[in-house]
Amino acid sequence: MPQERGLALVERDADGIDTAFRADVLDGLSQPQKAIPARWLYDDAGSQLFEEITKLPEYYPTRAETEILKARGREFAKRIGTGRAVIEFGSGSSVKTPLLLEAIDPAAYVPLDISGDFLRASARELGAKFPGLPVHPVEADFMRRVELPKAVEDLPKLGFFPGSTIGNMVAPSAVDLLRTMRATLGEGAKLLIGMDLIKNKDTLIAAYDDEAGVTARFNLNLVHRINRQLKGDIPVDALKHEARWNDEHARIEMHLVATRAMVFTVAGKGFAMAKGESFHTENSHKFSRRTSYMALLAGGWEPEARWLDSEERFSLLLAEARPPRMAP
Ligand code: AVI
Repeated sequence: MPQERGLALVERDADGIDTAFRADVLDGLSQPQKAIPARWLYDDAGSQLFEEITKLPEYYPTRAETEILKARGREFAKRIGTGRAVIEFGSGSSVKTPLLLEAIDPAAYVPLDISGDFLRASARELGAKFPGLPVHPVEADFMRRVELPKAVEDLPKLGFFPGSTIGNMVAPSAVDLLRTMRATLGEGAKLLIGMDLIKNKDTLIAAYDDEAGVTARFNLNLVHRINRQLKGDIPVDALKHEARWNDEHARIEMHLVATRAMVFTVAGKGFAMAKGESFHTENSHKFSRRTSYMALLAGGWEPEARWLDSEERFSLLLAEARPPRMAP
């Protein structure tokens, strides 16, 4: 999951304001369609709310992907083989990662995460579950090429990027990330990646606008964070969470819509919003078989296998970083 946690890599000005957060918010609020990068949704409260989302009856992706990991262990073992170093992009989830590790009996596990706290906690948890397995946590931003520990240098590698987090990126960033993963893992590596599928609009909207209102709280938490950390006075009670299906881009968009005209300030700068205008806070792209293959190929990965859950809602894809071939 894309996360900005703890104090890792945070630069603050003399007033203690996170300068990157302020720059993104002020830039985003100055656009004709107000937009704030989704990574700012994940402060501690946001990360906790996201955990709650994964357990909601309407939010199928986590259950569907877990079902695939449970059902396809034998096929993973056959295709991936044992003895690899598993490099997980993001700290391992307590449910999904053990299912993969049990299936393929790796030689080492390397979780990569920007937050040392989350990283150490998940490394400890995994280490306790798999006592004989060498675990080498690396505190790093995996959006850039990461130097892997010497101990896994000569092992064959498997990258693991579950959750369809790749879908939270627009196409150029998604392809950049896939290329960066290839650079981190090297030629000959494999990649097991989750990608959520295009499906009927009602199911998608419900997954991002649940009955209990948890996703609404997750979205609105961003505005509370802006008000608190950037000295803002955005009237939170006049904003309504909305999940929209954008068919042209095959994505769910999260918005916060103004229920009345409003003026507000953030970090000393004034803004106005008309009734019905929105902040665009997140994209969650959905894939077909072809678009998922296209994304992988553009990122330097040859698709090798594709597995779906029993209701065909979610896909897990296996791809390989093959040497480039002479093209005609
Ligand atoms: C983290 N990511 C894959 C989630 C998704 O489904 O796009 C984030 C999320 N946003 C609202 N609900 C879940």
